[in-house]
Amino acid sequence: MSLYEKIPNNVNLSSDKRLLRALEHWLPNYMKWWYDMGPAGFQADQVYLRTAVSVEPGGWAHFDYVKMPDYRWGIFLAPPEKDRIVGFGDSYGKRAWQEVPGEFRNMLRRIIVTQGDTEPASVEQQRLLGHSAPSLYDLRNLFQVNVEEGRHLWAMVYLLHSHFGRDGREETEELLERRSGSSDKPRILGAFNEPIDDWLSFFMFTTFTDRDGKYQLLALAESGFDPLSRTTRFMLTEEAHHMFVGESGVGRVVQRACELMRETKDDDVRRHGAIDLEAVQRYINLWFSVSLDLFGGEISSNAASFFSAGLKGRYKEEACEDHLALDGHYRVWQHGPEGWYQEDVPLRNAMNEVLRDAYIADCENTLGRWNKMIQRYGIPFELRLPDRRFHRRIGLYGSHHFDPQGRPLSAEQWEARRDEFLPGEKDLAYVKNLMVPVHEIGQIANWISKPAHGIKGLPFEFEYVRREQ
Ligand SMILES: [Fe+2]
Ligand SMILES: [Fe+2]
Repeated sequence: MSLYEKIPNNVNLSSDKRLLRALEHWLPNYMKWWYDMGPAGFQADQVYLRTAVSVEPGGWAHFDYVKMPDYRWGIFLAPPEKDRIVGFGDSYGKRAWQEVPGEFRNMLRRIIVTQGDTEPASVEQQRLLGHSAPSLYDLRNLFQVNVEEGRHLWAMVYLLHSHFGRDGREETEELLERRSGSSDKPRILGAFNEPIDDWLSFFMFTTFTDRDGKYQLLALAESGFDPLSRTTRFMLTEEAHHMFVGESGVGRVVQRACELMRETKDDDVRRHGAIDLEAVQRYINLWFSVSLDLFGGEISSNAASFFSAGLKGRYKEEACEDHLALDGHYRVWQHGPEGWYQEDVPLRNAMNEVLRDAYIADCENTLGRWNKMIQRYGIPFELRLPDRRFHRRIGLYGSHHFDPQGRPLSAEQWEARRDEFLPGEKDLAYVKNLMVPVHEIGQIANWISKPAHGIKGLPFEFEYVRREQ
């Protein structure tokens, strides 16, 4: 099969010889990376996966058994919008760019590389999880997320190859060379270097970190650089499933704890092999806070430049009244010799914080749904998002300590109470101990409930992954 037949696409790959040659060169390196750093131990198995084969409604979700290395990583852009304009910033109202505007070239490349780097990073972080999957259903969902993150890398690589010439090509190689958690060539952003050693971390990552992805993609979908906008709009359709995997995964962990508390009339669910809600809360504290850092500093001249240039907008920019954001202000907390005080900063410099607000509101909804379930079991416990100041490494709060309610702590107080707030060695060891593989059809580990529905109308008792060995 020729390369362009193997790569489902709507970018006219067959007639774009230059792009085809570039991808021909890149593909073997990608495959080498996939074998080295993709899901370890399951490459020969048949997995019931969804593949995007076109962007038409219904056409993009084709389900079948496929071996992961044979997955058809495609290149898709959402259909063009007629007469699209730059929707914000200094070029507001001009025609959207089909080619990279020379003056913004470096900025744009940086945006695309930063986004692109997160995609293979998460695959690397999750590569060993298959060995401890709680069911075939979960195993399949993990692999679905993994192959789609692989496709998201393709999406960014497509932009680099088709719009950035030689430097673009070099970037596409470096995207395959950095490694999550490596000390000499780490991934670019912090959360993407955190280890994901257990399934609760995986569900937290897909709830909170993939949701950061959603908001970054929503901001890039507003971009005046039309190919970036169209690429990210299509990626968002896949991202929704990743967050479903996360939210329903944590939900099923919570449900199992509640079930066992009710059944055994014992609040100490660890005695019955489930994960206690207090530990779930500490995992939330960790993954929410590291994901908040991904939005960048509260006051950011980069964010202001991205906005002025028309490259990265706000969440639902269209719904904003003023697309120039020149005279607005945003109130942030600052720290000075007198302690904490509030200050107004120019709105363009606060764009990271504006996007972070939208993200936090979305996370609140998710917690609301988990709490409803806890209530249904009549259990007096409420999961909470920690304050945005808690456990930050980046921005105004990065060099200070706070408790989950946002109250300042001294360094000593923080050290003494750290394990109250974040998963400590005991939590991690306990959760890790629960992580034994359940790879039999229709079976599930004791620490998590079955999902309400299977995939694509199939029952939970379906062979979602056909093991070869
Ligand atoms: Fe992604
Ligand atoms: Fe994702």
